[in-house]
Amino acid sequence: MKKRVLTGLQPSGTLHIGNYFGSLKPLVDLSVDKGNETTIMVADYHALTSVREPNMLRDYTNRIVKDYLAAGVDPDSVTIFRQSDNPFHMEMAWVLNCMVTVPFLMQAHSYKDKVAKGLDANAGLFTYPMLMAADILLYDTDYVPVGEDQRQHIEYAREAVTKFNAAYGDILKAPKEMIIKKVGVVPGTDGQKMSKSYKNTIPVFGTKEEIQKAVMSIVTDSSGGLPLNVYNIHKVVYEALGKSEKDLDALYEEHSGKYKALKDALTDDIDSLVAPMRTKRDDISDEQVNAILKAGAEKAKAIAGAKMKEVRQSIGIT
Ligand code: ADP
Ligand code: TRP
Repeated sequence: MKKRVLTGLQPSGTLHIGNYFGSLKPLVDLSVDKGNETTIMVADYHALTSVREPNMLRDYTNRIVKDYLAAGVDPDSVTIFRQSDNPFHMEMAWVLNCMVTVPFLMQAHSYKDKVAKGLDANAGLFTYPMLMAADILLYDTDYVPVGEDQRQHIEYAREAVTKFNAAYGDILKAPKEMIIKKVGVVPGTDGQKMSKSYKNTIPVFGTKEEIQKAVMSIVTDSSGGLPLNVYNIHKVVYEALGKSEKDLDALYEEHSGKYKALKDALTDDIDSLVAPMRTKRDDISDEQVNAILKAGAEKAKAIAGAKMKEVRQSIGIT
């Protein structure tokens, strides 16, 4: 029996090379494994907990699908759908919300961190883990590939399974997390973790000029001849290109102190890594994206619908 693998992506911005190495590439590598039945869901209703711009939400959904296709997800073997296209997720989330307690949800990092920062958390953010549990449980998912930051949410999904099954019998399947192995943290142009919130990113699907602009902005106040911030990004890119660290060290030795030359070399290397994906992405039309999402929604609704029927039957709503 093939294992069911499902993950969700929040459509919340333009992908940077940190996202590429930390999330996109590992997921693409995983989806190539034909021993699994892989589903990728664009979590637009989850994004509503923070996005207030309708055009942005629509645009980001379309963009993230193109990004994943360009990076190598094969739409013929992977189901891709948009959460909001399948209303069973909302229905299932309500059922699961009725299984868990308020103090339990108050312990979720996603909620606690917001409150700790003194921010106003909306009720959607509070019940976020049960919508995520619904996403997973509607498909009898075996494995959920996620970053370490999402581990607790999978534990919450298992808790919802325990509560539900204790009341109604063995209906829901307990999922396991599959923690995505990272290349480590990709540093940004200022040497901190690359993150859209720090505005220190290098885009994956940018033009060569955009990549160059970002690379030129890398802060190089290092002592000696080695610009560490440039080198550390270069190391990750070099490895992805299958080049050896020895060659990289030789390059930095040869151009010791010549930051412009080293930044030019980094720009060229990032560009040769992403150029094939960029070309592929430019060829994907909006119509293609819509067709893929439509087909994905039909498949998802068929599976989730059957599960929801079973759930309704067991709770006494028919
Ligand atoms: P950001 O920090 O830009 O807001 P997200 O939190 O949206 O990025 O992260 C999306 C995915 O990309 C996560 O799986 C996260 O672990 C990964 N990721 C983000 N930034 C980096 C980075 N600098 N290095 C490695 N992985 C990263
Ligand atoms: N919460 C996840 C994140 O922010 C996204 C997500 C939504 C998800 N539903 C999911 C991930 C279901 C895995 C499975 O990254």
